Amino acid sequence: MNDWLHIGKLEDIPLQGARVLETAFGNIAVFRTQANEVFALRDRCPHRGGPLSQGIVYGRRVACPLHNWAIELESGEAVAPDKGCARRFSVKVERGEVYLAAQGDTAGSSGGEGAGNHGLYVGVGVTGH
Ligand code: FES
Repeated sequence: MNDWLHIGKLEDIPLQGARVLETAFGNIAVFRTQANEVFALRDRCPHRGGPLSQGIVYGRRVACPLHNWAIELESGEAVAPDKGCARRFSVKVERGEVYLAAQGDTAGSSGGEGAGNHGLYVGVGVTGH
């Protein structure tokens, strides 16, 4: 079962942008789509580690700011013909408040990191467009 960590208000995340959370196991980008859906991925592009949080969100994808790979926000998968996957984290929105699962979604997890680690450090700034 997940522990849900309150990370702020939906309105704090720019539309078609992202907010970055610093955690003990790397930065997490929390994205907000035009349709007010929220997704969270590790803030590292599967290509060469570009900061996905600084990319442009369109539909349910984000374009990496470095070499323009398209990444599916729901799965973290690169859109073909590119291949790779950014780790995905579970998020939910309730009454305008955003919550992140303190343990990342295990699907596709490379394992090892963050086992038993509930101590997400949340802070940092907002990036967006
Ligand atoms: S690092 Fe993201 S497309 Fe190259």
